[in-house]
Amino acid sequence: MKVALLGYGTVGVGVRQMLLASPTLEAGPVLVRPGKADESWKVTAMEEILDDGEVGAVVEVMGGVDAAYRYAKAALTAGRHFVTANKMLVAAHAPALAALAEEKGVAFLFGAACGGGVPFLHNLARAVGSGDDVTALGGILNGTCNYILDAMERRGQDFARALSGAQSLGYAEADPGADLSGLDALRKVVLGCAAAWGLLPTEGLLREGIESFTAADVAALAALGRRCRLMGRAEMQGGRLCALVEPTVCPAASPAAAVLENGNLAWYRAKNAGQITLLGQGAGRYPTASAVLRDLEGILEGERSMLPRGCRPCRAEGGLLRRRYYVRCPGSAAAALEAERHFEGEAGTARLLTAPMTPAAIHQWAAARRGAGEEIFFAAWEEEEC
Ligand code: HSE
Repeated sequence: MKVALLGYGTVGVGVRQMLLASPTLEAGPVLVRPGKADESWKVTAMEEILDDGEVGAVVEVMGGVDAAYRYAKAALTAGRHFVTANKMLVAAHAPALAALAEEKGVAFLFGAACGGGVPFLHNLARAVGSGDDVTALGGILNGTCNYILDAMERRGQDFARALSGAQSLGYAEADPGADLSGLDALRKVVLGCAAAWGLLPTEGLLREGIESFTAADVAALAALGRRCRLMGRAEMQGGRLCALVEPTVCPAASPAAAVLENGNLAWYRAKNAGQITLLGQGAGRYPTASAVLRDLEGILEGERSMLPRGCRPCRAEGGLLRRRYYVRCPGSAAAALEAERHFEGEAGTARLLTAPMTPAAIHQWAAARRGAGEEIFFAAWEEEEC
């Protein structure tokens, strides 16, 4: 199958190299920006790709939403399989693209959009397709944040230096704010919800990133035998869905704490299969490109969709779970929280573990205190050996 590429950045270069080496796939034209077509196989108009009757699949690795969505619709309408690594595109437009692909009898796959090289969505979709009932999913879904947290903990780097390392290794988004704020990980949780339940939560999502994590937090958590990881979670309870991303403090001996560098650890729990956990590189040129190739091979084997239950928007509920939270805040702000334990804190600073509370409540509390100019760090307290 001849494969055209939209975009030739970090991932695009890797995909083309792998296509050139593939025994089953053929490298086709690559769409680049006007003025950048310095090779015969580079083109600057989508029509040049769609006019090539040999192109069977179009791979989008250019990023952004609006142009990517236009190209996706054009490719599917023209009867070409469509594969993307673009979380933003899928989180925004999965229902329309899935419906168009189904109507045209072609594939719409996005395994590279969640977990980098970790085949998470494939496994999840297969479990659902086989009739299993997924009850929860989550994990470490952002390689950039994991790289930063790990570099701060193991190498003593400061936040800015660790971020610049993640950027130079090609892990971070063009706007690293999407990584640091948890937005990128949340989009991946949303894709997991789509694969697991056919639901695309667009409202009621909760998100806390790692921007307020400091070297003092690293030391305070180390003294408790814990490490911080940015983790997503979605849970279905009685037809109601909770979906969130939060820093999470894990026992230092847990599998999550052992995830280093750009690693991802993605898990789901299903009635028949029990808990399945997948571990691998969550970002970077070749891990992500390998996931694109996996989708393309899947198409050759007849795979057409990662949404066994279709896909429709829904609202998530932040009041569904109850979790304990580790909190660092000014001493004066702590009184509003029901604390189960107090830890040693710097002068004027409280460090505590809350009683179980809803994610919605802690997110609201933190937003209000930050609105009053206070510095807050909070993280879910992982009870299980995740
Ligand atoms: N910026 C993303 C990450 C890239 O760090 O996980 C892979 O989705």
